[in-house]
Amino acid sequence: MASIIIGSDHGGFKLKNEIIKHLQKLGYEVSDLGCYSLESCDYPVVAKAVAEKVLEANTKGILVCGTGIGVSIVANRYKGIRASHCTDTFTARMTRMHNDSNILCLGERITGVGLALDIVDMWLNTEFEGGRHQKRIEMF
Ligand code: RB5
Repeated sequence: MASIIIGSDHGGFKLKNEIIKHLQKLGYEVSDLGCYSLESCDYPVVAKAVAEKVLEANTKGILVCGTGIGVSIVANRYKGIRASHCTDTFTARMTRMHNDSNILCLGERITGVGLALDIVDMWLNTEFEGGRHQKRIEMF
């Protein structure tokens, strides 16, 4: 089963733990790059760590902060990262099909656990369509 890199700041810590439990139940190997408590910390630190690991391991990652926005801004500064901030399953599906998204960003203060886990499932289970979308990604 695929390996998933995950990380959060304190604002995403609880949702991240729910996602880890969910993914482990499904049989994924999950690598948690922090944070490891509710103590206040800086989202750019974990977003950088996850972006670098996703590129190095050529796998997918999930980042969670309060809104999902801070981590997505940071992750998208890395060439080769296509981080998608999703709040619904439609955009989670489309960003895999059309953008070959390799990092999913979620906001614990925005999206409840039930919907967040559905978004994770949709994002992980949708394949990139390639074709004209591959050409567009190469234009980034
Ligand atoms: C932390 O308070 C919060 O700013 C952070 O989790 C995130 O929402 C930033 O975009």
